[in-house]
Amino acid sequence: MNETNDIFDARQALTTAVAIAREAGALLMDGFGREKEIERKSSALDWVTQFDKASEELIVGRLRQAFPDHALVGEEGTNIGDADGFRWYVDPLDGTTNYAHNFPVFCVSMSLYNGGRPVLGVIYDPVLDECFTAIAGEGAWLETTKGRQRLHVSRETELVGALLATGFPYDVHTSPDNNLDYFNAFVLRAQGIRRPGSAALDMAYVAAGRLDGYWEFKVFCWDVSAAILMVIEAGGQVTFLDGRPITLERQFNVLASNGRLHPPMLAIIREAKATQPATSSG
Ligand code: IPD
Ligand code: CA
Ligand code: CA
Repeated sequence: MNETNDIFDARQALTTAVAIAREAGALLMDGFGREKEIERKSSALDWVTQFDKASEELIVGRLRQAFPDHALVGEEGTNIGDADGFRWYVDPLDGTTNYAHNFPVFCVSMSLYNGGRPVLGVIYDPVLDECFTAIAGEGAWLETTKGRQRLHVSRETELVGALLATGFPYDVHTSPDNNLDYFNAFVLRAQGIRRPGSAALDMAYVAAGRLDGYWEFKVFCWDVSAAILMVIEAGGQVTFLDGRPITLERQFNVLASNGRLHPPMLAIIREAKATQPATSSG
């Protein structure tokens, strides 16, 4: 780690983060298809397995070793240090519902922020062995067994040609902010909608031009902190769902797109919001 004289080597930190994410991905693949110990968290739908916890333990241990002065926030309970300086956000398994059902769409997501600004992000999909990375100001990249390529968002300008993704919150059975009105509105306007089940991969796919846009209610900082940087570095746009500039809050509603589709997506969101007695905010 080169951190002398306040010079922080983001590339070296990314190399370390990628190695850790790959190690955690291997741990998840080892558990994939095996018997899961399931516990419920915020609701009956919100599960956690022993592999979520083992992955977080591995990642946090490695990050503590490599960056002892950095703060850390992890989905499965890690909260070390404060937000003023360098702070890692860790989702040790994004796509737990998929994973628990042996549905092979999930990833590890890690990001580093400094004073609230993104420094780097890595999203590793161990099923496809795809590693998405970004460093602020240096673009977003995808590393596969075939090599390394720079990511660019799609050039789609019309919703009727757009493939979008979304997700539903874990309180979907009980909350009026359940995304169903928005889903209905987009189904009637877009070429297609997907609900793959990993917010981090959904947004990485926007960065990669595989999806043209994505929206979701009530995501957490660890779900999308790496992916926000990826979409921006790939030339796309990320805002709160009401169009306000994004900042990393603990939980928020998010809209990501190739940029060109941001205005028409915001228009649909306003329309859908106007037709419901919504309590939802940006
Ligand atoms: C969830 C996934 C899902 C999204 C939820 C997230 P988890 O994360 O990203 O796609 O719809 O909002 O909480 O619980 O699998 O880490
Ligand atoms: Ca998550
Ligand atoms: Ca998770």
